[in-house]
Amino acid sequence: MASGPKLSDAAFRSAAERALIGEHPTIVKLRALLERVAATDATVLITGESGSGKEIVARAIHTLSVRSGRAFVPVNCAAIPHELLESEMFGHERGAFTGAAGPRHGLFSTADGGTLFLDEIGEMPLQLQAKLLRVLEDGIVRPVGSDRATRVDARIIAASNADLIAAVRKGGFREDLFYRLQVVPIIIPPLRERRSDIPLLIDYFLDRMRQRLPGRDWTVTREAMVHLWSYDWPGNVRELENMVERLVIMCEDSVIDTPLLPGNLVTAGRMAETRIPATLGEKGVNLNAMVRELEGRMINEALKQTGGNKQAAARLLGLKRTTFSAKLRRCGVIAPASGDERDEA
Ligand SMILES: Nc1ncnc2c1ncn2[C@@H]1O[C@H](COP(=O)(O)OP(=O)(O)O)[C@@H](O)[C@H]1O
Ligand SMILES: [Mg+2]
Repeated sequence: MASGPKLSDAAFRSAAERALIGEHPTIVKLRALLERVAATDATVLITGESGSGKEIVARAIHTLSVRSGRAFVPVNCAAIPHELLESEMFGHERGAFTGAAGPRHGLFSTADGGTLFLDEIGEMPLQLQAKLLRVLEDGIVRPVGSDRATRVDARIIAASNADLIAAVRKGGFREDLFYRLQVVPIIIPPLRERRSDIPLLIDYFLDRMRQRLPGRDWTVTREAMVHLWSYDWPGNVRELENMVERLVIMCEDSVIDTPLLPGNLVTAGRMAETRIPATLGEKGVNLNAMVRELEGRMINEALKQTGGNKQAAARLLGLKRTTFSAKLRRCGVIAPASGDERDEA
């Protein structure tokens, strides 16, 4: 196995199906990182807003690793009642607690040889965090109510949509566990910080709909694309994925146009209001970030008003077309592709 993981055809196919789509520099870097991380057994902590792709990233690491032939076991720490989480994870002995009729394997054992994905780890009760830390350190699992100790070899990938450092400061999350988990930290930016991937993801999801509904096809008008692309997507890629499905279902012919979009997406689709302060204050400001944010906002507004026409948008902002294009690239904002107005610059 010195040459690294060999993927079976099936594993390879599922890796392709779960491809992490995106050409934004942060996603390109992330894909390269995944491959390097997959070649190791290091514990990974993935941070990102809900729907940004934490689980798909965790699965990709598993699929690309030598563990791909064994189980990938997701545990949502927020969805399982606190009292049950411990026995779910570590298993229990018969009669360990009321209702524990027979002995039971925990998810740690299920993930033996594979990967245990601890989703929403920030929701794990402190007492269980202590137990998890011990297991991570010695690789030994003790079921609830049992003296029996079993060695388990599960790779741990944890995910959180909350700022765990803040939780550590407030005493809601153990600092030692935090450092033990984030041997490799992976941060997934929210979709609104990689808007240039929105058209790409829409294409990808439309393609999947084409496979599901053979013989049908859809196109998104330039104006609709501008709205889709300037919306803030609080639910990130998951929200976009659901939106594409909804638009395809609602669409009577094959054209997805602005009237089909939900009203809030069209009207509230502005860039989030910035916190650009009127005064400097004691702590000072990050002038570059403020200028970039204002630029990005104005560029989005101009493109929206002009239905994506860059020449007209540049005029609205009092910029030369070339200056405007350079700013577009710098913001990571790429105007939606259209047949008649290609940007060669
Ligand atoms: N970069 C991406 N490319 C393709 N699909 C994605 C991407 N990011 C997220 N998705 C899809 O969006 C949905 C939400 O992703 P998920 O990994 O469950 O997010 P999270 O765990 O952060 O809430 C899933 O259906 C996933 O397949
Ligand atoms: Mg998730």
